[in-house]
Amino acid sequence: MQLTVDGRKIDAVAGQTVLEAARAAGIYIPALCYHPKTGKAGRCRACVVEIEGMRGLKEACAQEVRDGMVVHTDTDRVQQTRRLVVDLLLAEGHHNCISCQANGTCELQEMAYRIGVERPAFLIETEPAPLDVSSEGIVREADKCIQCGRCVLACQNHVVNEVLAFGYRGSHAAVVCDDDRPMGESSCVLCGECVQVCPVGALVLKQPREAKVRPSETVATKVTCPFCGVGCQIDLHTKDNRYVFAMAHEGQWLKQPNRGSLCVKGRFGLDFIDAPDRLRTPLVRKDGELVEASWDEALDLVAAGLKQAKDKYGPDSVGFFTSAKVTNEENYALGRLARAVIGTNNIDHCARL
Ligand code: SF4
Ligand code: SF4
Ligand code: SF4
Ligand code: FES
Repeated sequence: MQLTVDGRKIDAVAGQTVLEAARAAGIYIPALCYHPKTGKAGRCRACVVEIEGMRGLKEACAQEVRDGMVVHTDTDRVQQTRRLVVDLLLAEGHHNCISCQANGTCELQEMAYRIGVERPAFLIETEPAPLDVSSEGIVREADKCIQCGRCVLACQNHVVNEVLAFGYRGSHAAVVCDDDRPMGESSCVLCGECVQVCPVGALVLKQPREAKVRPSETVATKVTCPFCGVGCQIDLHTKDNRYVFAMAHEGQWLKQPNRGSLCVKGRFGLDFIDAPDRLRTPLVRKDGELVEASWDEALDLVAAGLKQAKDKYGPDSVGFFTSAKVTNEENYALGRLARAVIGTNNIDHCARL
């Protein structure tokens, strides 16, 4: 089917929302509570649009497309409502973009910039909330929380860890861990899914903060997680070719084996990449000491040792252990080496970690 957005005809499929169809066509509609993984939440009204034939402003994240629909995303009414949304959110929190880790990646900042909001229109005096740095890997800054609910939905429904929820009422409403404990003392398993979906700087990873590198300064490279056989797709964020942090790759997330999520190992366990004691060349023993060697020298030594054992004690004197941490192709190649070259079936695979 087709709809018209700001005078432009775009294609859409039944079941899509106006927001999804517009985004697929490269048209910007802000959305603070909607995230593809957590779905529509209807909390923020950042995504309002005008639709011809419908009364009032409609939430693009909740409105399903219909053939022939005519949508306006940039009228005065739309812009005024969005401005009010941004004004109230900025006024309710303590937003100092200059020192915020999310500067440059924050969706509220992006929305304010596009609308042209330079400072909040309202001043609401609130007591600053303490920073929660109790978690090993995540920093929570309640003063920057816009209560979009993405983290709650992600923790409850997407990764089903059921740690985060909304607590308290009215102006005291806040996202809490368990029965309002510091995150580091809660049942959080450090999957980082809440950080992945948070649109602002309210939930951030500790690693960039400790490295004094904002995420916006890093370069993301898509890699496969080296920790197990699932093959999760990771965006490895580096600066000056040094590892800073990891996020799940979200492009075409439904087609990724990890569906845009990571476990604690993929999210926080990759700092070995730049570990100073990491082995970068093979070591061979000479006169009782391990010394650096070339790959040719090391592989020749292993081949000679295997041949010697096979010739002297027979093929079954040799055994191979392979791993879930290498690729299927590498496991297949080792199987061929064991069975076809050495002539033994002594090969096992640890699918566990
Ligand atoms: S959360 Fe966003 S808007 Fe708030 S201070 Fe950080 S960058 Fe600025
Ligand atoms: S890191 Fe994972 S388990 Fe912990 S609060 Fe966030 S989503 Fe929930
Ligand atoms: S912590 Fe982030 S994701 Fe969670 S409600 Fe606040 S702004 Fe939204
Ligand atoms: S993104 Fe549509 S209401 Fe929040």
